[in-house]
Amino acid sequence: MFEVANNHRSIRSYRSDPIDGALLSDLLHTGLRSSSSGNMQTWSVIVTRDTAAKRQLFQAHRKQQMILEAPVVLTFCADVFRMREWIRVHDSKQSFDDLLGFLTGAVDAVIAAQTICLAAESVGLGICYMGTTWWAADRLIELFELPKHVFPVTSVVMGYPAESPKLRDRLPLELLVHHERYRRLSDAELREYHSERERNAWARYTAIASIREQLERDGIRRITDYYTSKYKYSKALHTEVSEMLIKTLQAQGLWL
Ligand SMILES: Cc1cc2nc3c(=O)[nH]c(=O)nc-3n(C[C@H](O)[C@H](O)[C@H](O)COP(=O)(O)O)c2cc1C
Repeated sequence: MFEVANNHRSIRSYRSDPIDGALLSDLLHTGLRSSSSGNMQTWSVIVTRDTAAKRQLFQAHRKQQMILEAPVVLTFCADVFRMREWIRVHDSKQSFDDLLGFLTGAVDAVIAAQTICLAAESVGLGICYMGTTWWAADRLIELFELPKHVFPVTSVVMGYPAESPKLRDRLPLELLVHHERYRRLSDAELREYHSERERNAWARYTAIASIREQLERDGIRRITDYYTSKYKYSKALHTEVSEMLIKTLQAQGLWL
C-alpha cells in the first residue's frame, strides 16, 4: 500500500489495450468495500467504454485527449436516489433531498473512487481524475440520464500507461498537518515554502516560447497570476460554474 500510494502519478497518455472485464469487475468490487456514511453507500459509478460515448464525454470535459485514449472512464456520482427509492417502497418518511444528502453522497463517492484508483494502480493501471466533472455537471446529467437526486462528483480515466511521468512535487507535510489547532503561516513562510514550486512551475510554463510570449501579453508574471488567470481557475470561471452548480443541484432536488 505504501509503495503504491507513494508512487502515484496521474497518467494522461494511454495504450490502446483494453482493461480485462474480470479485472475491471474486481476493481469495482474493491470500491464496494469502501467506508460509507451509515453504510448507505450513497454513490453510483457510470462505466463508459463505448467509443461514441467517450467522444461525448471528451466534448463535455473540455476536450481532454486522455478520454479518447483511455479504455475506461468512470464517473462517480453522489446518489441518494437509490436510498430514497428504498424508503419510498416501504412508505417511510423521506429525507436526503438536500445539500447534506448531496454532500453525504459526494464524500461516499470520492472515497470509493480513491479505493478503486489505488487498487488499479496496484496492478499497473494508470488513472487521472477530472475536475471538469463539476464544470460539466449539467451536461453529464443529461448524457447519463441521471435521475433526480443523483449528481456527478468526479471522474477518472483508467488504462495502461503510455508514459512514465516523474513524481510531481508536493508541499511539505507541515503545511498540511496541524497539531491540535490550525496554524497560519506568516508571509515569509508562505514565500519560503512555495519558492521551489514557483520556480519549477514557472520554468516549465515559460520553457515554450509561444506560451511565454502569451503570458507576457496577458501580464502574467508569476505562477500565482497564472493560477487565477483565464487559463486556469479564474474568478469568472468559478462564478459561472458555481452558479450552474447551484441551479443544477436545485434541479436535481439536492439544494437546501
Ligand atoms: C479532483 C481532481 C481533479 C483533477 N482534474 C484534472 C483534470 O481535469 N485534468 C487533468 O489533466 N488532471 C486533473 N487532475 C490531476 C491533477 O492535476 C494531479 O493530481 C496533480 O497535478 C498532481 O499530480 P500527480 O497526480 O501526478 O501527482 C485532477 C486531480 C484531482 C484530485
